[in-house]
Amino acid sequence: MPATCVVGLQWGDEAKGKIVDILSDSHQFVVRFNGGANAGHTVVWGDRKFALSLLPTGVLKPHVTSVIGNGVVVFPPRFLEEVGKLRAGGVPVGGNLVVSDHAHVILPYHMEEERLAEAESEGKIGTTGRGIGPCYQDKVGRRYAIRVGELLHPNHLRERLKQIVPIKNRLLKAIGDSAKSFDADQLADEYLGYAEQIKPHVTDTTRLLHDALAADKSILFEAAQGSLLDVDHGTYPYVTSSSSLPSGIWGGSGVPSRCVTRIIGVIKAYTSRVGRGPCPTELTDDLGERIRTVGREFGTVTGRPRRVGWLDALTVKYTAALAGVDEVTVMLLDVLSGIPELKICVAYELDGQRIEHFPSDAYQLERCKPIYETLPGWTEDLTKCRKATDLPAAARRYVDRVGALVGKPVSVVSVGPDRDQTIHLK
Ligand code: IMP
Repeated sequence: MPATCVVGLQWGDEAKGKIVDILSDSHQFVVRFNGGANAGHTVVWGDRKFALSLLPTGVLKPHVTSVIGNGVVVFPPRFLEEVGKLRAGGVPVGGNLVVSDHAHVILPYHMEEERLAEAESEGKIGTTGRGIGPCYQDKVGRRYAIRVGELLHPNHLRERLKQIVPIKNRLLKAIGDSAKSFDADQLADEYLGYAEQIKPHVTDTTRLLHDALAADKSILFEAAQGSLLDVDHGTYPYVTSSSSLPSGIWGGSGVPSRCVTRIIGVIKAYTSRVGRGPCPTELTDDLGERIRTVGREFGTVTGRPRRVGWLDALTVKYTAALAGVDEVTVMLLDVLSGIPELKICVAYELDGQRIEHFPSDAYQLERCKPIYETLPGWTEDLTKCRKATDLPAAARRYVDRVGALVGKPVSVVSVGPDRDQTIHLK
């Protein structure tokens, strides 16, 4: 059974969750392979809404096994809090939620390290403050990292923390005078408490997924963040610390990428970005404020106002190629209603030259000025449109132009947060 991947083609928050939610009806496994509790998503269950950041979107579907793969970094209190919230809301969460024994564990000193580093104006990235980067640093550095599987061995965990914590305390002090200090035994007691509760969910998820493939089960991969936040191909250093492109699937879940035969690229009808880093089409005027308000562009994890701007075709063309997408979906089209003229960036001016490709260097991108194509807007409210023919001609034209600029068919247009506010074009 071929696997599918849903991936955001901008800087995250493209409303991937809605597409994952729709597709999870027809899949038996929904898998996260990167990131951690930095990926805010709102999921709907009946008439209730839950804000999740770590658990996969599939967790609300009892027929789906939701997998937190080895490439994810897990903060145990957040895991338990999200499970607790769902259970309190009547959602049955049990054996349908599994977490890889190879996933890495976030400890409070990771967040402290991030807090101290982000307090410096030099090198500030504008992170979510969830300890994601420092945990991945430890993973790659190997010496001070702890995997989820190690939580299940009390003596071993205590010994490891006794080695690691004094070193961390010294490192933290070197980063900032205001550093908190941690106690190894206290941390061991705390994390062993979490381990007892997490234990029933911990398993070898790679084997689970290999068995699923062998049994012809359907797997849906949910890429967290967005392609431009990918640590290798995004706007480095203003990126997250994991592979958010489908290329992360193989390493972050153990499933060979060749098993993924359908890749759906999710595009917001405009651009948004949280945190620092270049965003050539950013609107800092009243129009930007209007799009932010209508689109409710405030971070799910941090509540920060998102930076918004016109759609940038150069960015999505670049990421669609990187992600190898077969089709794209255009989300939040309804937000653009009532704007007389719409712009799409089709080229940049860089140091006096017109360029038609996305520069791979964030410092060059900072100097790029957008060159726009202008399209007529529409005044109609789109939120009640249910089929392509319900869309005003100008909205249809905008969508067609996005597809043409990316060079991929548009399969879905979304005109509101609810499931039925979805137009399937093929
Ligand atoms: P980190 O992932 O917390 O290290 O943050 C690195 C950058 O990625 C910051 O600019 C964050 O705002 C951004 N970021 C991380 N996760 C998301 C997400 O799910 N949506 C949008 N931006 C994100």
